[in-house]
Amino acid sequence: MDFDTILPMRAIHNSKWVALDKSFGIPADQGIAMSVADSDYPTAPCVVEALRAAVDNGTFGYGYDGAGYRAAVAWWLQSRHGWPVDPDWVVSAQGLGHAIATCLDIWSDPGEGVAFFTPVYHEFRLKSERAGRRPVELPLALVNGRYEFDWAAAEAAITPDTRILLFCSPQNPSGRVWTVEELRQVADFAAQHDLILVSDEVHADLVYDDAGLRHVPMDVVAPEHRNRTVTLFAASKTFNLAGLRVGQMILPDPALRAQVAARMTALNYDPATLGVMATQAAYSPAGQDWLDAQMRHLARNRAIFDDGINAIPGVRSMPLQSTFLPWVDFSGTGMSAEEVTRRVHGEAKIGTAPGHWFGTGGDSFHRFNLALPRARIEDAVARMQAAFADLQ
Ligand SMILES: Cc1ncc(COP(=O)(O)O)c(C=O)c1O
Repeated sequence: MDFDTILPMRAIHNSKWVALDKSFGIPADQGIAMSVADSDYPTAPCVVEALRAAVDNGTFGYGYDGAGYRAAVAWWLQSRHGWPVDPDWVVSAQGLGHAIATCLDIWSDPGEGVAFFTPVYHEFRLKSERAGRRPVELPLALVNGRYEFDWAAAEAAITPDTRILLFCSPQNPSGRVWTVEELRQVADFAAQHDLILVSDEVHADLVYDDAGLRHVPMDVVAPEHRNRTVTLFAASKTFNLAGLRVGQMILPDPALRAQVAARMTALNYDPATLGVMATQAAYSPAGQDWLDAQMRHLARNRAIFDDGINAIPGVRSMPLQSTFLPWVDFSGTGMSAEEVTRRVHGEAKIGTAPGHWFGTGGDSFHRFNLALPRARIEDAVARMQAAFADLQ
């Protein structure tokens, strides 16, 4: 298991490296790419072996998301997250962006509202806008350095024509792992406003093994709301498989499931065979062991990153409960968002995701990425300290 070799990411066609210049004006040979949520080290050996065997066979005809794959998804959800899932509840999508777009298509009409708690994964807004839906921002409250729900603000923002709540659990950005009590409140809010609840749990496998935290699937908390809940899962973030374009929509409710399956058929979507094979190989005991090793690597990177970043006066990395996307607050520097971005992109030459992408509440932040070799994290910290050296 090698997490520390520096790979030729541009030659591999990794989008966040290829886009450094175009997106952030950072010369490709001088920057560090940290904007997109994927990893710069290889996936689990068990996945590589399964794909290698498939390549060696040399036949790439029509495939299907068969019984072994569905059983592996169900096994993973039960063993990692304590969620008993019937394999028949799984409907495959071409990644979770496609799953979200499919939900918007089925359960809302153009002009209607799509709600989400901000700051959040910027594609919730972008996908809603591209589909002609109206984004409805429900701002989270920043309380003692972490996000909490502000139910009064959410009630004030929601509109009668809102049809869908896109919910990110754990939260991207910030890595906040919601408590059972909070999840229950979200489910009840969706029910009170008659919303389809899309619970995007793609970061669920990446909870750090400290502070006694545990991800709890929405369906475990609120099975009584199954008739309005769609849970999204994938091996893509956990195992660095995003380019293979397969994700799972878990639909315990037969009526919702039939709607999704019919739409997938109408749009002629079938999952790509290599993505199905990779997911099946990842969701295995060998995959579990690799994930545990990855979490140790990420926890080490998190410690290096937080120590170095929090040593810069006025800069604070939010304590990261899950995933590899540190959310760094620059408000204590007193600098404008433009000046912070000039220093991070222009001086440190780190391609981060600027906080305004993530909606209300994000302006003073940048989102970084820890799923890189350790030497890259050390380099990024040194660059940040140099770019903000006048504050020391
Ligand atoms: C919360 C969340 N949902 C969905 C996605 C996108 O998933 P996919 O690459 O499968 O379209 C991401 C990617 O960063 C994400 O963070």
